[in-house]
Amino acid sequence: MYFDTHAHYDDRAFDADREELLLRLNGEEGVELILDPGCDLESSRAALCLAERFPFVRAAVGFHPEELEKLREGDLERLRALAAHPKCAAIGEIGLDYYWDASHKEEQKALFRRQIELAIELCKPIIVHDREAHGDSLEIVRDYPGLRGVFHCFSGSPEMAEELLKRGWYLGFDGPVTYKNARRALEVLALCPPERILIETDSPYLSPVPRRGKRNDSGNLRYIAEKIGEIKGLSLEETAALTLENGRRLFGLSE
Ligand code: NI
Repeated sequence: MYFDTHAHYDDRAFDADREELLLRLNGEEGVELILDPGCDLESSRAALCLAERFPFVRAAVGFHPEELEKLREGDLERLRALAAHPKCAAIGEIGLDYYWDASHKEEQKALFRRQIELAIELCKPIIVHDREAHGDSLEIVRDYPGLRGVFHCFSGSPEMAEELLKRGWYLGFDGPVTYKNARRALEVLALCPPERILIETDSPYLSPVPRRGKRNDSGNLRYIAEKIGEIKGLSLEETAALTLENGRRLFGLSE
């Protein structure tokens, strides 16, 4: 019943038990769909391999801003070829990260724009990573009115959320909504229409309370869904069904 729209099962944190874990998640843990976004060519290819092996996994392909320095001549052409794979549901994760590196802002912005243009050309939604770069992220996506996608693990202000929602964007909520200091994320949740909410784990990172500090996996979606349900006045089942439906709609995955 759950759709984890952002989980990095290609990460080496899962090397010891990847297959067993994925089968258990899709079985007894009730995880119906998982989207694994790439961060560079290698992890995009690995995500596609997982999507080929497991019918409930989809991939996204893209260059994360933290991987900027790995980018080589011709890589965007290689990315375009990967994006043609039938199990590639989106371009991502792409965006800006000024927490990681504030000294290459122009290069990050240029790479973000080139990947957005690829997504538009291929009619795919995008998965945006925006960390401490809210103003520039918003300014860039404003330039592409037809662009669709999700701001993953949204950490901007309620005002920014309102503008994105008006423009048709989805917002992704992760483990941090369960943290004690989650005030701003909860304000955003309160104003976000139910049909624009996605739930994500960002596994292996960002484990929700009460699993904080441990390796994360999609079995922990329930803690995020519970928190969302609390804010929106929905049961756990309703929240799971709603966010599954939202993810299917955005990523074009019909039943
Ligand atoms: Ni991620």
